[in-house]
Amino acid sequence: MKRYVILISGRGSNMESLLDAGLPGTCAAVISNRPDAAGLAGAATRGILTAVIDHRDFAAREEFDAALAAEIERHAPDLVLLAGFMRILGDAFVRRFEGRTLNIHPSLLPAFPGVRTHAQALAAGVRLHGCSVHFVTPALDGGPIVAQAAVPVQADDDEASLARRVLAEEHLLYPRVARWFLEGRLQLVDGRARLAGEVPVAGALHAPRVG
Ligand code: GRF
Repeated sequence: MKRYVILISGRGSNMESLLDAGLPGTCAAVISNRPDAAGLAGAATRGILTAVIDHRDFAAREEFDAALAAEIERHAPDLVLLAGFMRILGDAFVRRFEGRTLNIHPSLLPAFPGVRTHAQALAAGVRLHGCSVHFVTPALDGGPIVAQAAVPVQADDDEASLARRVLAEEHLLYPRVARWFLEGRLQLVDGRARLAGEVPVAGALHAPRVG
């Protein structure tokens, strides 16, 4: 069984969708950079080990990154899943876990990196919005895209309604991609996401790169 850890900062609904998906792997730990992250309780209820590396305890980002990396390594994971993890990770950290770190971002990248993605989408007037799962590289929200799910923007959408519909797609998309990785079908090769085997395309899941 492959091992994975999940990094959170808050609510943890993506974490819950991963933990409840029956993934072919063992969740070794859920790690938060905030002691008050609501998701920690959800992990504990599911019998998952939790840890907190509070970024406020460190004067420099590199020190926080090093402590976080040490905590992650303790669990010897094959895969690191960022799920609503709201700290920017430095290059050294990212390189150390490159090829085995995934992130979910609530927009159709490369559109709308960063925060307030739903407000950005509404302000831009796009007709399609959505979410992306990508490998993490030093470029913020800029790593190779694995898969995306699209959500039509409705005329009466506000930030909250759009966020709700995108989040429902996130909860389907992320476990699906995590499963590919844990099955050994998904890899980062020459800066591209490579997926082996048949890819069932259903619902709003837009065909990922197959190679
Ligand atoms: C999600 O929309 C995720 O894509 C973004 O932050 C939100 C976190 O929600 N990065 P949750 O903590 O998974 O409920």
